[in-house]
Amino acid sequence: MKSSKRALPVFASLAALGLGSVLFAAAALADEPLKAPGIDWDARADKWFTAPKEDEAARKAQMKEASRALKRPCKFCHTEDFSGFTDDKRKLLTQQMMIVSAENGVECKDCHDGRDKMTELGHDAKKMYDLSREKNVFCDECHQTNKSKFKDLTDKGKKFKEEAEAKQKGAPAPAAPTPAPAPATK
Ligand code: HEC
Ligand code: HEC
Ligand code: HEC
Repeated sequence: MKSSKRALPVFASLAALGLGSVLFAAAALADEPLKAPGIDWDARADKWFTAPKEDEAARKAQMKEASRALKRPCKFCHTEDFSGFTDDKRKLLTQQMMIVSAENGVECKDCHDGRDKMTELGHDAKKMYDLSREKNVFCDECHQTNKSKFKDLTDKGKKFKEEAEAKQKGAPAPAAPTPAPAPATK
């Protein structure tokens, strides 16, 4: 098992929270896909395709790349005649994956290395997925959707990182504003 080269404070602090499961155990969809309110998964996932809907051949070719990274056949997700999906949860999770890939400028193979195997980035992402599942938020709560490969954080993301760093140093989290001095008594 390869351990992460970079000990990002946020991951050390996640491990402390007991969220640092290292093994990718996904024989089946063991966990529910994360839930985040108000997201149109269909519309956002569609942006993963670089070709328009009319160009089915190009879309198929792109899917083939995804399929290859996962070492899963089309019918792992699509029904035999491609009119539906084998499992609604798998469909949703895959749509979330397509969104993560398109918005953060990464590809399936950057995280997936064959059937049930993950790259180092994939392992980092697994901790993040668990965190997001706990918080009922999607990745864009903390990561900008500008294809920066997870480098550019939103304000909430920056705040989360600061808190994780403070926790790791053993310093108290940013304190509440100090109370105003008591009025002088005469
Ligand atoms: C891991 C699951 C998964 C695998 C494997 C997979 N697909 Fe898909 N496919 C999806 C999802 C999810 C969508 C997006 C559906 C949506 O948003 O409506 C999709 C969309 C498509 C589309 C676009 C449909 C449209 O409305 O434009 C085509 C074409 C397609 N898949 C073909 C394939 C082919 C061919 C393979 C095998 C080489 C394959 N898929 C493998 C999950 C998968
Ligand atoms: C940034 C890393 C990352 C990228 C990029 C990524 N995935 Fe994933 N994928 C994960 C993680 C983490 C999980 C485990 C999620 C969980 O805990 O349920 C996962 C799980 C899955 C699963 C469920 C496991 C299974 O075998 O049923 C499918 C299907 C999947 N990904 C498809 C894709 C596809 C298709 C793409 C490209 C469009 C993709 N992923 C891109 C990180 C990634
Ligand atoms: C609550 C905030 C938050 C959420 C939600 C979140 N992340 Fe992160 N993520 C961070 C922070 C903070 C870092 C560390 C960034 C740094 O130190 O520069 C990070 C780092 C990462 C890294 C490591 C980048 C690298 O270079 O190795 C990956 C991959 C990642 N996140 C993926 C995801 C994915 C995928 C999701 C959604 C499933 C997600 N994150 C949701 C806050 C978040």
